[in-house]
Amino acid sequence: MEMLASSLHIPVMLSETIESLSVKAGGRYIDCTIGSGGHAAAIMQQSAPGGQVLGIDADPEAIKFAKKRLRDYGSSILICNNNFVNLETICLNNNFKPVNGILFDLGLSSLQLNGNGRGFSFQTESPLDMRFNPKQSITAANIVNTLTEVELAEIIRDYGQESNYRRIASYIAKERPIKTSLELAKVVERVVGSRRGKIHPATKTFQALRIAVNNELENLELALKQAVDLLGFEGRLVVISYHSLEDRIVKRYFKRESSDCICPAKVMNCNCNHTARLKLINKRVTTPSVEEVKANPRSRSAKLRVVERVVTNEEWLETAGRLCFLGKVDAGIRSDKLAQKVTKKASLVNY
Ligand SMILES: C[S@@+](CC[C@H](N)C(=O)[O-])C[C@H]1O[C@@H](n2cnc3c(N)ncnc32)[C@H](O)[C@@H]1O
Repeated sequence: MEMLASSLHIPVMLSETIESLSVKAGGRYIDCTIGSGGHAAAIMQQSAPGGQVLGIDADPEAIKFAKKRLRDYGSSILICNNNFVNLETICLNNNFKPVNGILFDLGLSSLQLNGNGRGFSFQTESPLDMRFNPKQSITAANIVNTLTEVELAEIIRDYGQESNYRRIASYIAKERPIKTSLELAKVVERVVGSRRGKIHPATKTFQALRIAVNNELENLELALKQAVDLLGFEGRLVVISYHSLEDRIVKRYFKRESSDCICPAKVMNCNCNHTARLKLINKRVTTPSVEEVKANPRSRSAKLRVVERVVTNEEWLETAGRLCFLGKVDAGIRSDKLAQKVTKKASLVNY
């Protein structure tokens, strides 16, 4: 496998992720964005003996790389080239449910940023592509060269949070066709000016196009909903996001699903019948340490949020009854000990 040492992706907040997932021996985990397999390798190590991982990535290059890197784990790891928007179906087809933990480490890997010919980077010349999945029909070049100036401006405003969106769209429209990443970067630079500190002037425009090409925000919303239903007893869901649009989706969804009432603020008497399905584990978002950001500047914008599935009383009692019936737990022991044992056994998803 051709790979420069400098392009190897460094997994972000690795120890915080493993701790947040509460990885245990014999557990079953899904890595929805396996990328170069850094987080997945750590989950495999921590869940030994008996752990299992289902790894997903939309990018076939990432899949090839992860399969090679993780080959020593044999059948304990299953790697699928798919979009996490199909999470439920992927798990159904592979009989991989319920699980102890699910990880989303969103965005791009260094493999994609540094790889030739993908168009993700504004620093290297390549066709304006930006697709995670090369079989998908729409590329960044399609968007840049075929949308109206107004549509383009909206994408750059909404997905890039770029204040110069109108002028950038207008310049792009004048300079079309734009075929390569460097051509686009130069057009944006002409509007915005050269570097703002460490941030390249085309950063926000490139982010906007990548989000639009891969339908990233909608896919995230849909996948989060599916993920919660796959979690077993006290299963954990961990999401690492890299910009405020992603983080807002995660934060809002976690807040909603961890509330017993989602009535609008003006409603005096709750009538929503909503019950919390999740519990917030880190009430304040987790961010990388100063040392990590120094060693891996790409981690600087990362935000990690974690939730745990709430086990209802009925579910707990039903599980306790089943475990006693199966002889996995002795019903005659003291009630506090019984509670501990039931929770421990039930969290092993394939007891
Ligand atoms: C930051 S990287 C993950 C790195 C990985 N955690 C590691 O340790 O190597 C994000 C990965 O998510 C993948 N990805 C992004 N959106 C996806 C989606 N909707 N479905 C599947 N994979 C996706 C990208 O292709 C990329 O490989």
